[in-house]
Amino acid sequence: MTASDNTISRKLLDWYDRHARDLPWRAMPGEPAPDPYRVWLSEIMLQQTTVAAVKPYFAKFTATWPGVEDLAGADESDVMAAWAGLGYYSRARNLVKAAKVVSGLGGFPVTESELRKLPGVGDYTAAAITAIAFGKRAVVVDANVERVVARLSAIEEPLPKARKAIREQADAITPDERAGDFAQAMMDLGSQVCTAKKPQCLLCPLAQDCAARTLEPERFPVKPLKKAKPVRQGQAFWIERDATVWLVRREGTGMLGGMRALPDDGWSARADGHGRPPLPGHWDEAGSVSHTFTHFALELSVRTYLGSTEPVGEGEWWPLARLDDAGLPTLFAKAARRALAD
Ligand code: ADE
Repeated sequence: MTASDNTISRKLLDWYDRHARDLPWRAMPGEPAPDPYRVWLSEIMLQQTTVAAVKPYFAKFTATWPGVEDLAGADESDVMAAWAGLGYYSRARNLVKAAKVVSGLGGFPVTESELRKLPGVGDYTAAAITAIAFGKRAVVVDANVERVVARLSAIEEPLPKARKAIREQADAITPDERAGDFAQAMMDLGSQVCTAKKPQCLLCPLAQDCAARTLEPERFPVKPLKKAKPVRQGQAFWIERDATVWLVRREGTGMLGGMRALPDDGWSARADGHGRPPLPGHWDEAGSVSHTFTHFALELSVRTYLGSTEPVGEGEWWPLARLDDAGLPTLFAKAARRALAD
């Protein structure tokens, strides 16, 4: 790449030199590449999650576990609790597994195909780490990049079929130099300028190269017809005694597995929760909360127990004053608020 070239990557990198966001896991243009641990951790956290939501979690994780060895030695339940609220909890389980593998290897693998073998690391994440932490050319395509490329080439094929063409176009514009900066410049352009709604084409360094510019940029990438998500019904049970509430730990393998939770009726294993309350006696209705998961929406009614019988099975009486420290995933945090408001 020369100073006089007029390629898309040149224009984008010039723009990035002036507009790169200063993010806690990022090396700014011209700085040495960041620690692979921090790149990996941030990329896992950023999967399906916004930069704003990730920032406090990234700060907490790197303060508690400053290196991959620390995370490899961590108690999985502490990691799950620290992850609470970020969603997609299999990411946290895979995080500990991958940290153990990396620790066993004596460091992060440095090739895309070896990185891909780590639990929780898919095509996107392996490419992102390769480019950002190791400065090696890799084709990094996340949803932001997908949108930028689909617009640049005005790809009319709908997603997900368009992914092949998008990948080919992304490959075609990826430079050999400054791999990490290029990948992150594409992400920044997608999230700051080439936004899903109301793109700021007047501020875009690639406006003149963009085939969608004179069409209707917001139409790209062309979306598939969406099927409505099925709605499941379930119940959560609030059992309170002496300023404490009964909490359980969910089975390790199912939905929200390994997370602390309110007891429930097994909604996650069935299309319809018709389970019985965990105690006989009088239950009150505290109303319901809704939560959307990847493949279904859940209407969870919250029932509160009035009685003195001891719950059966494993669990713990958790002080209400410390409920914020229980690491409840968002669904159960919502249910707890509903019960407490009642
Ligand atoms: N989204 C995912 N990875 C990112 C990164 N490294 N910088 C900005 N946004 C991102």
